[in-house]
Amino acid sequence: MVLGVAGGIAAYKACELLRRLTESGHDVTVVPTASALEFVGAPTWAALSGKPVAADVWSQVHEVPHVRIGQAADLVVVAPATADLLARAAHGLADDLLTNTLLTARCPVVLAPAMHTEMWEHPATRENVAVLRRRGVVVVEPAEGRLTGKDTGKGRLPEPAELFDVCTDVLARGVAEPDLAGRHLVVSAGGTREYLDPVRFLGNRSSGLQGLALARAAVARGAQVTLVAANVALPAPAGARVVRVETTAELREQVVAAAATADAVVMAAAPADFRPADVSDAKIKKADDGSAPLVELVQNPDILKEISASRPRPGAVVVGFAAETGDATGSVLDLARAKLARKGCDLLVVNDVSGGAVFGSPDNEAVILGSDGSAVDVPAGTKLQLAHVIWDQVVSRFRG
Ligand code: CTP
Repeated sequence: MVLGVAGGIAAYKACELLRRLTESGHDVTVVPTASALEFVGAPTWAALSGKPVAADVWSQVHEVPHVRIGQAADLVVVAPATADLLARAAHGLADDLLTNTLLTARCPVVLAPAMHTEMWEHPATRENVAVLRRRGVVVVEPAEGRLTGKDTGKGRLPEPAELFDVCTDVLARGVAEPDLAGRHLVVSAGGTREYLDPVRFLGNRSSGLQGLALARAAVARGAQVTLVAANVALPAPAGARVVRVETTAELREQVVAAAATADAVVMAAAPADFRPADVSDAKIKKADDGSAPLVELVQNPDILKEISASRPRPGAVVVGFAAETGDATGSVLDLARAKLARKGCDLLVVNDVSGGAVFGSPDNEAVILGSDGSAVDVPAGTKLQLAHVIWDQVVSRFRG
């Protein structure tokens, strides 16, 4: 593996990424730029990688490093990738060892940009990123938050643990052509809360793990991801734009807004079907006479049905989830087929939740039903594996 490091203050975070990569058994060659060495010196990279470090093409010339390092790599990740590095990569410059390596690599390439918001938003950078993504490079969206100085905004390097996940996901797939590049995908995750008063709510057991896995898999396949997360306590995957919501009404608003530009919408969230008709401004008190309040519920909008019917972007693929237990009226699959028709979506991922096994678990097992009559069995495996099969199905519909 090659870890390229460009000259940004976030270079210090690449030390932690390097540590994680080597500790998990990867053989990592670090290729910093000359500017990166202003931030973190060569001895640090050499000590952490256990290998010599060079930034230019003039060291060990007899080993032809400007060609060999890229050719031998299974993955090249550049973190941080500065605006300058993106520009040089987009234009095919080869003025140092890292840009030579990018030109000779035939393996997947992940670039994790980090820079000030103005630089990230500049049309020159936007175009460079678009060019790189078109060529199949996985450009991870920067995170939002504190930047180098006192300012905040979009442009932070995602945390090393999150970048490590992106690297292992891209490596695991081993595809040089990310098949979701150029796609905007919307994923909802978690369970909504419907408030009774300022401290109490009706909720459900959805952990958000499957939605996070979908976002993570999509980033590794090159997509731009909007993750609408309802009460998800876990850290969001690197590269996804995260919109945090609480109620079904907020979830609906954000999903509908993002769906306008989406190539696919996957409703992995568990929105509450009902909400209290009235939300008390003050905490509801216990009555002295031992009586309990009666809570009147009203139905929430069905977001999946609405998106399926309105199709904000023509041609977009809409995916629903169904957590089913069979009952007297039919088996899990009978009920799921009926739900697929009722919701009007293209794909329905069906979990058998008799016994509650799937909630909060890292594993999942499902059948993916298609509106074209297809049924794909996904054997027990991780939620990340299921996520990849779901995206495979979505990609086949894009092609179809
Ligand atoms: N869903 C939604 N909006 C709601 C409720 C559910 O978009 N208000 C979506 C979920 O995200 C999921 C799918 O619909 O993708 C199936 O949810 P489920 O609760 O199984 O469906 P219901 O319509 O509530 O059916 P049931 O009558 O079985 O509860």
